[in-house]
Amino acid sequence: MPHITLGNNLQALALIDKYYGEHKEARKVLLAHSIQVAKLAVSVASHAERTEAVDLEFVETAALLHDIGMLYTDSPKLACFGDKPYICHGIIGAELLREEGLPRHALVCERHIGVGLSVEDIRGQGLPLPHRDMSPQTLEERIIAYADLFYSKTTPGKRTAEKVRSSLARFDSKKVDIFNRWHQKFQT
Ligand SMILES: [Fe+2]
Repeated sequence: MPHITLGNNLQALALIDKYYGEHKEARKVLLAHSIQVAKLAVSVASHAERTEAVDLEFVETAALLHDIGMLYTDSPKLACFGDKPYICHGIIGAELLREEGLPRHALVCERHIGVGLSVEDIRGQGLPLPHRDMSPQTLEERIIAYADLFYSKTTPGKRTAEKVRSSLARFDSKKVDIFNRWHQKFQT
């Protein structure tokens, strides 16, 4: 596993502190999760780099920032007391990072929910999200969404691939197929 400490990533640290400075408990939850996801994502990206071009620095920073929008959601278990549904954390983070001049990182925020959300998912499940495709498109976006599936914000430790499959299967078996393709390519 590559060595990542948030202190090494000043860009991500500055942004997290800007929004979470007054929210110590939420910051703790966000950092614990984001660092786990960033470590796995960078490890996957380092393996992928042997065969294709991948922007490692972007993967690390975007992984650290992918859940930055959670603060504005109504998620008391995560010490977040906003008024938006949790599923909106991706688009809220995206909006925030666009305003910060990080449009590429913003796309990671809005495309990392599960294995991604299609317009059909959003319409069919009546999700409170804009009707646009929110599935990961680039290698970096896929790697971060993949790594995120292994870590919960409320349960410590890494989930097994089997656990990831069973949680995706509750929604749609096609989601499990996408995960299986990623897992075949990305497992380290
Ligand atoms: Fe996450």
